[in-house]
Amino acid sequence: MGNLFTSPPRLPLVAPSILSADFADLAADCRGVLDAGADLLHVDIMDGHFVPNLTMGPALCASLRRALPDAFLDVHLMVEHPAKFVDAFVRAGANHVTFHIEVTGEAAAADLARTIRRTGATVGLAISPDTPASAVLGVLPEFDLILVMSVRPGFSGQRFMPEVLPKVREISERLRPSQRLEMDGGIGVETASIVREHGCDVLVAATAVFGVDVAGRPAVIGALAGRL
Ligand code: DX5
Ligand code: ZN
Repeated sequence: MGNLFTSPPRLPLVAPSILSADFADLAADCRGVLDAGADLLHVDIMDGHFVPNLTMGPALCASLRRALPDAFLDVHLMVEHPAKFVDAFVRAGANHVTFHIEVTGEAAAADLARTIRRTGATVGLAISPDTPASAVLGVLPEFDLILVMSVRPGFSGQRFMPEVLPKVREISERLRPSQRLEMDGGIGVETASIVREHGCDVLVAATAVFGVDVAGRPAVIGALAGRL
């Protein structure tokens, strides 16, 4: 099976973040957004150190994999020591693993990218709003995807930060056509078109998708993708 991030066609992908799903009814909530047109599930892992919040671990990822064998799971590690957790998440069914440049620096980021790719997963590098593009430019070729955060990592429901858009341009003009550019934080139907116009082709959204009732989700997902 090809990997969703690296296989054609290269259409914008909508990635609901399960952070705002109903954790007590997670499989049904996730199956619902996939049936409503979402392309994959974005899984936000927080350790209470790199970010001031705690979310979920590999066990939850494994349960999700059992419930949804065909779902593409995009794991976003907001943790201080990503290398410690890669194997556990890949064993739990992650198709893709992204970690943050702020916790590794460039040399270790390149090493960890190769380690992750050897597991069979694709690999992404995330950059927080206060980190300049220059922090990642030297290692862009090592990654299948670059994730530009448009809120400070830690919580869903924050306001989109348009000040990161110049950084997106700086990064996007240096990517190969096969590399994906993901944006995460504060994205909704009002902000999606500017995000896509800046070259982002994976749009993460928690509140905009799970914050509306089930009947409204197909329209939101279609609007995020620019399919409407
Ligand atoms: C924030 C997470 C995001 C978050 C997005 O630290 O990485 O994925 O869940 O939430 P919204 O879409 O509500 O900004
Ligand atoms: Zn995320």
